[in-house]
Amino acid sequence: MRKKVFLTRALHNFALKELKKKYQIEVHKGKIPVPQSKLRSKIKDADGLICFPYDIINKETIDLAENLKVISTYSVGFDHIDTKYAKEKKIRVGYTPEVLTDTTADLAFSLLLDSLRRVSEGDRIIREGKWKVIYGAQDYVGVDLQGKTLGILGLGRIGQTLAKRAKAFDMKIVYHNRNRISKTKEKLLGAKYVSFERLISQSDAISIHVPHTKDTDNMFSMKVFKKMKDVAFLINTSRGKVVNEKDLVVALKKKIIAGAGLDVFEQEPISKSHQLTKLQNVVLAPHIGSSTKETRAKMAEITVKNLNLGMNGKKPIFSIGY
Ligand code: DGY
Repeated sequence: MRKKVFLTRALHNFALKELKKKYQIEVHKGKIPVPQSKLRSKIKDADGLICFPYDIINKETIDLAENLKVISTYSVGFDHIDTKYAKEKKIRVGYTPEVLTDTTADLAFSLLLDSLRRVSEGDRIIREGKWKVIYGAQDYVGVDLQGKTLGILGLGRIGQTLAKRAKAFDMKIVYHNRNRISKTKEKLLGAKYVSFERLISQSDAISIHVPHTKDTDNMFSMKVFKKMKDVAFLINTSRGKVVNEKDLVVALKKKIIAGAGLDVFEQEPISKSHQLTKLQNVVLAPHIGSSTKETRAKMAEITVKNLNLGMNGKKPIFSIGY
């Protein structure tokens, strides 16, 4: 009997083909994310699970698994998986960092550039037939990146790659991290370590690159927005719940901060009627941080490799904890 692998969504054909050679696979079709009831019934006798962000793999779900050897997530984020409990149960967890670093940093930088230069806002103005002033001295003006201070919260792989892009645009870079990076790296990136308080009060733009945990939940709320410069922009490509969206809407409406570029939200997809969609000083993207042809294919490759290793009792290439 071939081992069973359940996929909560389809992967690229090349990946499915490879999986089919080795395993009996079942791919969930229909409602995304897979309903918990289905996930729970499928995990029961699965040997391997391929999942995506939003598929909640909590203790209760893991407890139902009788044969599960590995959970391989098609993402760098793993806040949807109880990795601690998986480790306790000796279930390997694989994820896909590195291959998406450049792509996600590019998206963060796109949101930064777009927010400061108001590209999407201009696009909306034209599409809505509201372009009235041609080449006005003070119309549709944005702000320059050069000379501005970019605050990076979380200087891991993606944060560091963003720093390289910002450096090329002659931005000053400050960062805050749980652990300070080496002096050599700081020098190379031109990044200065500061406290969180300084990061929020000194930066002209802040880009968030921390995972969503109980420590980072709601980290950006009104208390923080009030300490930010009123000319500052907030960029978020990490997880929506790091930012208090209700407070952000108020901060943007009242111009407590100047604008925001967001790829992630508290609830995804956000609805058309969400308050954020009514504001001009915000650029919205549908969680596409890692979404390029090249990167998504590499992620599929790693997801399969991670799964294969875990199925054979080995540590995935990129593994969490075990
Ligand atoms: C991930 O892989 O977790 C990211 O959210 C991709 O954008």
